[in-house]
Amino acid sequence: MNRTMKIAMKFAAVLCVAVCMGAMASAQVAGVPAKATSSTKATEATHVQAATLTISADKAGAKVSPTLYGLMTEEINYSYEGGLYGELVQDRTFLNMRDTVNWIPVPQGTARGAVARDTTTGPSAALPASLKIVVEQADAKDAYGLRNGGWWGVPVRGNSTYTGSVWAKGDAAATGGAAVRVSLIADDSGKVLASYQLPALTTEWKQYNYTMKTGPIAKVTAANQILLSVARPGTVWVQQLSVFPPTYKNRVNGNRVDLMDLLAGMHPAFLRFPGGNYLEGQTIADRFDWKKTIGPLVDRPGHASPWRYHSTDGLGLLEFLEWCEDLKMQPVLAVYAGYSLGGDHVAPGPDLEPYVQDALDEIEYVTGDVATKWGAERAKDGHPKAFPLTYVEIGNEDNFDRSQSYDGRYTQFYKAIKAKYPALQLIATSKDRGNVVKSVTPDLIDDHYYRRAEEFFKDVHHYDKADRNGPKIFVGEWATREGMPTTNLGAALGDAAWMTGMERNSDLIQIASYAPLLVNVDPNGMQWQSNLIGYDALRSYGSPSYYAQAMFAGHIGTEIVTADLQGAGDRLFYSVTKDAAKGVVYLKLVNASSVAQELKITLDGAKLVKPTAKLVRLSAGSTAATNTIDDPKRVVPVESTVTGVAKTFTRTVPGYSIEVYEIGVQ
Ligand code: AHR
Repeated sequence: MNRTMKIAMKFAAVLCVAVCMGAMASAQVAGVPAKATSSTKATEATHVQAATLTISADKAGAKVSPTLYGLMTEEINYSYEGGLYGELVQDRTFLNMRDTVNWIPVPQGTARGAVARDTTTGPSAALPASLKIVVEQADAKDAYGLRNGGWWGVPVRGNSTYTGSVWAKGDAAATGGAAVRVSLIADDSGKVLASYQLPALTTEWKQYNYTMKTGPIAKVTAANQILLSVARPGTVWVQQLSVFPPTYKNRVNGNRVDLMDLLAGMHPAFLRFPGGNYLEGQTIADRFDWKKTIGPLVDRPGHASPWRYHSTDGLGLLEFLEWCEDLKMQPVLAVYAGYSLGGDHVAPGPDLEPYVQDALDEIEYVTGDVATKWGAERAKDGHPKAFPLTYVEIGNEDNFDRSQSYDGRYTQFYKAIKAKYPALQLIATSKDRGNVVKSVTPDLIDDHYYRRAEEFFKDVHHYDKADRNGPKIFVGEWATREGMPTTNLGAALGDAAWMTGMERNSDLIQIASYAPLLVNVDPNGMQWQSNLIGYDALRSYGSPSYYAQAMFAGHIGTEIVTADLQGAGDRLFYSVTKDAAKGVVYLKLVNASSVAQELKITLDGAKLVKPTAKLVRLSAGSTAATNTIDDPKRVVPVESTVTGVAKTFTRTVPGYSIEVYEIGVQ
């Protein structure tokens, strides 16, 4: 994505509700297809002349990379804050008192007071400021409060436990008795859904932890608020007010359950983090400075995301790693390499050394045992066990570096990392003109593709003839950009076609990840228009592209099988893999044409072919068909059983369809 396009994308925040066609049966679980009610006959009505696909089922091909499909993530579109990261409070560190949902004064009854940011006192060096609440008049009946509207809504569910904490202190008057309360309040009724009374404050900063339990709630909505109230006169200072719902695997400071479930449905083998542009930052000062993202939350200052909002870094390095652990993914760790988005760079040589050392320390934090300095730090942070690590990426999109310093910077990182960690696979982010890495040979090159479906169709053979003796490939960011805020079936067809090409070349392409992954679909939430998974404060859904990914990654196979397609239209794409141990051939077919395609399939060399096969199909009547937050399951995969499967059999591949067959073969 070039710089002009990147800038243009950043502020396009208008939501569009796509007009959809072709409603299909609902999937019951994220990423898992719905079952069709009846089986599908092997031969259906045909519309065009038959093509032939001859599969060399008995020939052992190159290995499919078992890590081919993974996730790419960064703080964009409120992916973490207001997204995956479970925190319900927007602006928990009181940076932006003017926002329309953050911290609005609520004087009840006769209560009177004033609030302001106080830059002279805070609970830590990282958070040196706080919110000062001066209460002139308040009592238990009429408290002076402030409400927070969350990330454009606060979802509150019945019979649930909400956990949180706040740092606070008071002056002599305020500390005379218990006075501060945190509550969850229903917007419409003003009803208190759950509440916690802090004990009397002291005049020193102290952290107060709380749990709040809700009772039954008839209708779950996000039309709620978090209320901080003070019920006696005096001055109170607060900082880092946090409220979490139940999180995935009940992790403290953890992730949103529905989004983690959707991600698990993609069967991801790895997680590339922390960016993307988010790694680089707009300036060097705003890079992802990992040492400031670990340890107690109160010691994390947070920083500006290049996507124009603040990150608390509550989801910091260890949380990324625990996210990997929870979904059984390996980390693909991107280390800052001395170049930031705005164009600043650090010259190779002595100036770059501290950054190289930071990367070495970061790798030690991830992989070192507890006897190492940074392994011990990780243990102190609550995770004594080291994490596995194979891939380290040096920088992001360094092809944009006008100083053309990437060769020098990459080489300096490469030599230092290889000297200490020879087994690590080091990824370069550019092979462009002035930024070709030539002084050393990278283990992998990261290629990015943001395209229209039509461009992917024309380029599905991109890697067929690529050099097998040079670096391996990481397709670290790719997507068909059609539809917003999440992509439509047309995009899914482009994606699926491209995935057939990646899969057929997965001896070369070791890892690949779609981007961007997540978008908060609130009008305030989006900076990038085409995304995989959408959500608001309460709900979430997968786009057709999401389901295409889930279908491919869920039927990956272990060996690439050679196949020959003859006589098909130029929008029919395929990939064949097999898993000999399971006795299964996976056939993926993508018909990106509006017209059905008859296809005669021959499994050459197969001794026995099971007469029934599993078919998973994603299709709709129009490329504009899509899923939305209000209609999340319009286009979902449908699973059926195909009969009449044999060594040679005929199928009709419907127009605008993505199909995965699982065929039993010996
Ligand atoms: O995926 C969005 C952005 O696209 C990434 O941050 C960047 O690496 C690319 O330009």
